[in-house]
Amino acid sequence: MSLKIAILASGNGSNAEAFFERIKAGTLDCEAALVLCNRPGARVLERAEKAGVPHICLDHKEYASREEFDRAMIAEIKKAGAEIVVLAGYMRLLSNEFISAFAGKIINIHPALLPAFPGLSGAADAKAWGVKITGCTVHFVDEIMDNGPVIIQAAVPVNAAESLEALQMRIHKLEHRIYPQALQWLAEKRLKTVERQVHLLPGSRQTLAPDAGSLVWPPLEEGF
Ligand code: GRF
Repeated sequence: MSLKIAILASGNGSNAEAFFERIKAGTLDCEAALVLCNRPGARVLERAEKAGVPHICLDHKEYASREEFDRAMIAEIKKAGAEIVVLAGYMRLLSNEFISAFAGKIINIHPALLPAFPGLSGAADAKAWGVKITGCTVHFVDEIMDNGPVIIQAAVPVNAAESLEALQMRIHKLEHRIYPQALQWLAEKRLKTVERQVHLLPGSRQTLAPDAGSLVWPPLEEGF
């Protein structure tokens, strides 16, 4: 049985699109039950429309408080029957009420190797700091921003001569592989969290050989 997910996004939606493509290709055992966007006109809405995925836009500016807005989101997610909330470029803090409503069932992707460079501009901050290796992280969400247990990380070398855009593009390409992979592990019920440690239980798919120029751990499996 496929895992029903709600995707929360604010902008471009390339990660959402990576999910749609893999669901369509049959490599990701999920059903995109809802795309919920907080910014009218965001590209992610167009992508959802094109993929035939149910989508709504709730404009946060029309709500009196974060709590009121989050309550409206909780209602929509529950109505859609989603079991997991997937943050894919959702650019707002979530209230504690929202996080407790889906405790242990919210995941996020961050464009840096957490706990380094949390916040809104992980890739830019890593480059500005001068680190030699950065990457991206998929993690469970708790009450503290970019803090929850790590599921999977991908590392890439930072080439000081390249532009921020080029670095971001390399990170983004890996996001589109590690995020669907993490979701697939969730769908297969292979993630077991003990305190901060996320353990990956054995599965039947073969692991892929590492790509040149990046390190992904745990290793990606066939189809990703
Ligand atoms: C990604 O860089 C992700 O790491 C961050 O927001 C960005 C979303 O990109 N959380 P997109 O909207 O999926 O293209």
